[in-house]
Amino acid sequence: MNAPNMNPFLFVTDLDNTLVGDDAALAELNQHLASHREQYDSKIVYATGRSLYLYRLLASAKSLLPPDALITSVGTEMYFDRQHQQHDPEWASILSQGWNREEIVEIASQFTQLQPQPKSEQNPYKISYYLAQAVAGETIPQLKSALNERGYKIKLIYSAGQDLDLLPKNGDKGLAVKFLRQRWDIAPEQTIVCGDSGNDIAMFKGEEKSLIVGNAKPELLQWYEANSSENNYLAKSACAGGILEGLKHFSFI
Ligand code: GLC
Ligand code: MG
Repeated sequence: MNAPNMNPFLFVTDLDNTLVGDDAALAELNQHLASHREQYDSKIVYATGRSLYLYRLLASAKSLLPPDALITSVGTEMYFDRQHQQHDPEWASILSQGWNREEIVEIASQFTQLQPQPKSEQNPYKISYYLAQAVAGETIPQLKSALNERGYKIKLIYSAGQDLDLLPKNGDKGLAVKFLRQRWDIAPEQTIVCGDSGNDIAMFKGEEKSLIVGNAKPELLQWYEANSSENNYLAKSACAGGILEGLKHFSFI
């Protein structure tokens, strides 16, 4: 057996269908992560599309290790405190650039294919809809050009063939991870990001090590095929089992 890697690393993972989805594999992964954090000061961060409200529901149903920071709502809120009471004001002010929620909602409301998601999933810097896969291919570019015409170069992120998130140009999971790395002074090579769907792609574009679970959604597999590099690893196993595979592949554990 190889000696364990004793260097601390930053572990960032999506939750639904990435960290969560296989309880037995999650229990095994948790042991590795908890002991690496304890012995070598590695850091654990969740980067989820869920709001804090939905995160708390999941955290009460599954055994999740307490994270060192929590990124919710597709990177539009970031919490550094253990109780997740206060989302980071510096991050919020970065998100506010080039963003006007009311105007963006008004432009999007002309598109009847867009069905607003529940209130809990909307926040000052995230506007979320359901959009059927069958019409997404034509609706998204039309919405994008309607927004551009009014001067909004914002992000449109489509995930899992159903969710469309409108986010500030400075906000997504990848930019949130970069912000956090800079605050903690952690190099990209010492960082691994894990995901399964469209809203995770932003995390995979940087120099961090990327782990795509074996059960990834088509939009992410397509991205992987077009962007394979030695920094990206597509696991054979699903969910937490795939993460364990990736941690070993990149020699983090
Ligand atoms: C989560 C969020 C939802 C978002 C989706 C994709 O399911 O609750 O608002 O659209 O992730 O990012
Ligand atoms: Mg997911």
